[in-house]
Amino acid sequence: MIETRSLVAAFRGGTPIVFPDVAVPQGGTLLLRGPSGSGKSTWLAVVAGLLAPVSGQVVVAGTPLLERGARLDAWRARHVGFLPQKLHLSPALTVAQNLALVYWASGLRPDPLRMQATLDALGVSGLADRLPQALSGGQAQRVALARAVLLSPSVLLADEPTASLDDESAQAALALLQQTATTVGATLVLATHDARAVHAVHAACSVAQSAGGSAQDVIEMTLQRMN
Ligand SMILES: Nc1ncnc2c1ncn2[C@@H]1O[C@H](COP(=O)(O)OP(=O)(O)OP(=O)(O)O)[C@@H](O)[C@H]1O
Ligand SMILES: [Mg+2]
Repeated sequence: MIETRSLVAAFRGGTPIVFPDVAVPQGGTLLLRGPSGSGKSTWLAVVAGLLAPVSGQVVVAGTPLLERGARLDAWRARHVGFLPQKLHLSPALTVAQNLALVYWASGLRPDPLRMQATLDALGVSGLADRLPQALSGGQAQRVALARAVLLSPSVLLADEPTASLDDESAQAALALLQQTATTVGATLVLATHDARAVHAVHAACSVAQSAGGSAQDVIEMTLQRMN
């Protein structure tokens, strides 16, 4: 679950961004919409505990983020899966080594079986020994998603996951994100200004609901253009 109340964030010298309140239940999906520069990535950074807000409350998976203090980094590594727009795979490390970093960041010992099973589940099982430069764009995105969900995070934050993809790949990427979030029971946040993504997420939710699944309604939060 994610709840924010009276949240305000600002960069040094910048205009403060005032966010609407939102409450997303565990396992729910939030579509975070708004034009470029409206604060979507900023909101994700605050929820991930990467950026301290100016004021307001943020509760993620039952934990008030502002009370984590020095333990915030380890908590984030363990509970927050982040799929940034730029994937940030370490170029000098193989796919398997990139995944192993997740464990080190969480103070855990790497689990090669789990790493392999996660790559298998995302359809990139043969790529563990490749360097990122030897992956296609879609493969790199799957590897980054494997990294984000490796520890079954409570929340999965995806920043513009379809921005650079063609229609078919965008659909596949969204389906993969939704399926993966459902499998690990994560609350999913999709930040996007891509109308295709908004449509596809609602469509997938209706399909899941009409198939008798327990899919929850998609919650939308739209940020306003800043002046
Ligand atoms: N590191 C930073 N330092 C100063 N200002 C920043 C920084 N990052 C973002 N901003 C500013 O904060 C505002 C919100 O930016 P943000 O990146 O959150 O928007 P966004 O909705 O994610 O946009 P986009 O759709 O283009 O990704 C913008 O005015 C931006 O210029
Ligand atoms: Mg952004």
